[in-house]
Amino acid sequence: MQSDRNQSACAGTPEISGRQALAALRGSYPEFMPGEVWLVGAGPGDPGLLTLDALAGLLQADVVVHDALVDARVLALAPSGAQMRFAGKRGGKPSVAQEDISAQLIALARGGLRVLRLKGGDPFVFGRGGEEILALAAAGVPFRVIPGVTAGLSGLASACIPATMRGVNQAIILATGHGPDEEGVMDWSALARTRQPIVLYMGLRNLENIAGALMRGGLPGSTPAAVIASATLAEQRVLVSTLECIASDTRAANFAAPALVVVGDIVDVRRQLLDASAQYAAAARPPGTALPVAGTALPAAGAALPGESSACEG
Ligand SMILES: C[S@@+](CC[C@H](N)C(=O)[O-])C[C@H]1O[C@@H](n2cnc3c(N)ncnc32)[C@H](O)[C@@H]1O
Repeated sequence: MQSDRNQSACAGTPEISGRQALAALRGSYPEFMPGEVWLVGAGPGDPGLLTLDALAGLLQADVVVHDALVDARVLALAPSGAQMRFAGKRGGKPSVAQEDISAQLIALARGGLRVLRLKGGDPFVFGRGGEEILALAAAGVPFRVIPGVTAGLSGLASACIPATMRGVNQAIILATGHGPDEEGVMDWSALARTRQPIVLYMGLRNLENIAGALMRGGLPGSTPAAVIASATLAEQRVLVSTLECIASDTRAANFAAPALVVVGDIVDVRRQLLDASAQYAAAARPPGTALPVAGTALPAAGAALPGESSACEG
């Protein structure tokens, strides 16, 4: 029989609200006071990766000022009467200026509203959350920061690539492929010399140049590399290649933002993890039990993975 969450009381399972769940877990429910701004990370996309405190903020917000990468299902958690304001980049159109966003947050808070500033991933990881908090602090507006699950780490996990693996890497570098540092300020050779994996946010547009700079810095062209687009979402795509071929393979496969690029030997662990997952799935997993790697489509053990045949001859 099909179960229905809304009728679960009939089946003897108590329904609990988000508020009750939070209070039970932490002893008290975080209260959003009028005139406050909460700077909140919404995670990489999958609403299951929202934190409970982010949910608490959403449930109490009077106004939600959100970026483009916040999933519609997360936005739908805000009260029906809450104002929803878009403050991100859309389809290459000019984005709202950072000073205007900060000014908007200050004005809304001074108007006595509970202002939820909602950003994709973690607000302090390539999210310009620092600038917004400094502006709020300078204006004397009370704020709270709620961390989010950053795409650079959760996207790897969702693609079965461990961020760290004993014996493979001792550090992981999160870098931006876009920004003031893209035209030569970033010392890609120095990053290459660490021999530690590099995860690039916003790296697609400049991928050819960055891959070239990493190779000139000493990373072999054969270094494993992957691109993960729309990580954690149903439309997630993963392409596995080499540093030498990653830019042309990504173009050929029409990968689009949002996407992460990861360069380093940890990419090779994906194959082992997926093979292990496929074997586990094949061994008559009891109905209703979770897959070892949530959200991962399982190919047959040893089968070629989508995106693993490179068109680039190097
Ligand atoms: C402006 S940065 C914001 C990063 C965010 N604050 C975080 O912590 O994840 C936007 C970039 O994050 C990466 N990104 C965000 N969500 C992603 C997703 N679901 N899949 C792949 N990359 C993602 C992409 O590189 C995208 O261009």
